[in-house]
Amino acid sequence: MKLERFSSKEDVYTRAVDLIVKAKQSGAITFGLATGGTMEPLYAKIREIDVDFSNCISFNLDEYVGLCAKHEQSYACYMDQHLFRNKPFKESYLPNGLADHPAEEVARYESLLQQHTLDFQLLGIGQNGHIGFNEPGTSFDSLTHLVTLAQSTRQANARFFESIDEVPTQAFTMGIQSIMRAKCILLIAVGEAKRDVLERVLASEYTEDVPASVLTKHPNIIILTDLQEEENSH
Ligand code: F6R
Repeated sequence: MKLERFSSKEDVYTRAVDLIVKAKQSGAITFGLATGGTMEPLYAKIREIDVDFSNCISFNLDEYVGLCAKHEQSYACYMDQHLFRNKPFKESYLPNGLADHPAEEVARYESLLQQHTLDFQLLGIGQNGHIGFNEPGTSFDSLTHLVTLAQSTRQANARFFESIDEVPTQAFTMGIQSIMRAKCILLIAVGEAKRDVLERVLASEYTEDVPASVLTKHPNIIILTDLQEEENSH
């Protein structure tokens, strides 16, 4: 596990873009993508540079259940607005939040993922340690599945909706095993709100109570943060 600390968010995102561009130059084709506040400045930077993803394939980590792709808070819409409209990929996949048969949808998405090894996976982290929407307690062996969102996750995401009542209660997410199959993982953790959870991950507490702690076992993971080590920490 490689950790890089930067003195500003700006530097974190500059480095993240650099790593993505380098991955592309070294032949990465299949990218696992994330949404959320953390990724917005990253996609903004990518939109500004001369990089072409038209031979690449993307898979998003997750999608809310019950929102159609056109709903402005769906992750399909987020990706279109923040990235795909400007930097189209050859093919882009997300779970279908309106699927009639959730069991079939998770099988379909997992099967696609198994046919396309992810060369590069981008991750944010929830304050409760979730990656994708794998909430605390999710098995490290999990594949793509349907989740009931933790109340704390719905509260954290309520800022994107008119009220918490509008935040969906369920989502489809890649499983932890699906994520860990990626050849390379880039986790971005910025802002004070992520300090406690990042410290738990860095303390190498390998526990399903902190889903992101699984990443300590990944052979090729880089964590970028603007958080500095606290003076009294060891
Ligand atoms: C988003 C995702 C989530 C977010 C996490 C952090 O696709 O999978 O795990 O990365 O909830 O969200 P922000 O960046 O909004 O703090």
